[in-house]
This record gives sequence, C-alpha cells and structure tokens, in this order.
Amino acid sequence: MATATPKRDILKTLRSEHDELRGLFEQINATTDRAVKTRAELLRKVEAGLLPHANWEEEVFYPAIGERADRDGKKAIAEAYLEHHAIESVVMPEVKASDTASPEFAGAAKVFGEQLDHHATEEEGTVFKLARALFSAEELAQFDQQYQDWKASAAGLARVGAEKVKGAVKSTARTLAQ
Ligand SMILES: [Fe+2]
Ligand SMILES: [Fe+2]
Repeated sequence: MATATPKRDILKTLRSEHDELRGLFEQINATTDRAVKTRAELLRKVEAGLLPHANWEEEVFYPAIGERADRDGKKAIAEAYLEHHAIESVVMPEVKASDTASPEFAGAAKVFGEQLDHHATEEEGTVFKLARALFSAEELAQFDQQYQDWKASAAGLARVGAEKVKGAVKSTARTLAQ
C-alpha cells in the first residue's frame, strides 16, 4: 500500500504566521494617533503571534537545522538568531515603551514591522530552503505536529501569558494615569 504524502508542513505553518504578522503591521501602520485602543489590541496580537513563533524557532527549529547544516547554513542560522535578538530586545521594547497615542509609537511600530518583514523574508528564502534540503517531508510534518503541541502546552502558553500579564498591568497603569 502506498504511503500517503504527509500533509502537514512546518514551513507552511511558519510562513502563514509570518503573513499574519505582516497583515497586523499593515493594520498598525494604517492607524492614526487617536486609535489608542486599536493600536494596543493590534500590538497584543503581534506579541501573541510573534513570541511563541520566535521562541520555538530559537529553541527547537534553528538548533535542529544548525546540527545538520554546513558552514554557510550555520552562518544563516547565526544571522537569524541575531535578528530575533535585535527585534525582541531592542525594537519591540522600544515600541512597548512608547505611548500608543503618539507619533513616536507610529514610527517605532513601523520599524518593528520593517525589521520583522526583513527577517521573515530572509528566513523564508534561506532558512526554509535549508530546512527543505536537510529534512524529509515526514520530518517537516513531525516538526509541525511538535510545534502545534508545544504551542498548546504550558511552556508555549507561558510565552504569551507572561506578555499578556505585563500588557494588562501597563494598560491599567495608563488608565489610572489618565
Ligand atoms: Fe525567525
Ligand atoms: Fe519565522
């Protein structure tokens, strides 16, 4: 009996999450400084989508690719890690620290979206190509299942939960300050 081709594919999942994030940044960029609630909600959605995605890539996917990759592949993975770090530790905190009613927020959010798009586009071109060459369709399907299970697990949910709590504290502080 012929084995059915696995339908799941981690690269498709990651790419569609990139597209969701790109769409959220398009919406953020279209907001005015008066759209305080919309901006906060869109930023919350960006974090909820980005953090588990990036965390899983860093902890599971990049190391697995790095293990099998040649020197150029390892270099591409090193670039991807550093781009994550720059976004998570520099750009994203800058956006979160700015007042959603300000042009500073609009500017910082635009840079956030641009950096993310740059990283995602490069990842789709380089890292995904590597993964396609290094892993079988079966393995890519297994990664997809593992990613889905991890996102639903306590560890995956904690990545979003921690940010949600911080966001709630911040918006409460903002309400009190008004
Ligand atoms: Fe990434
Ligand atoms: Fe990604």
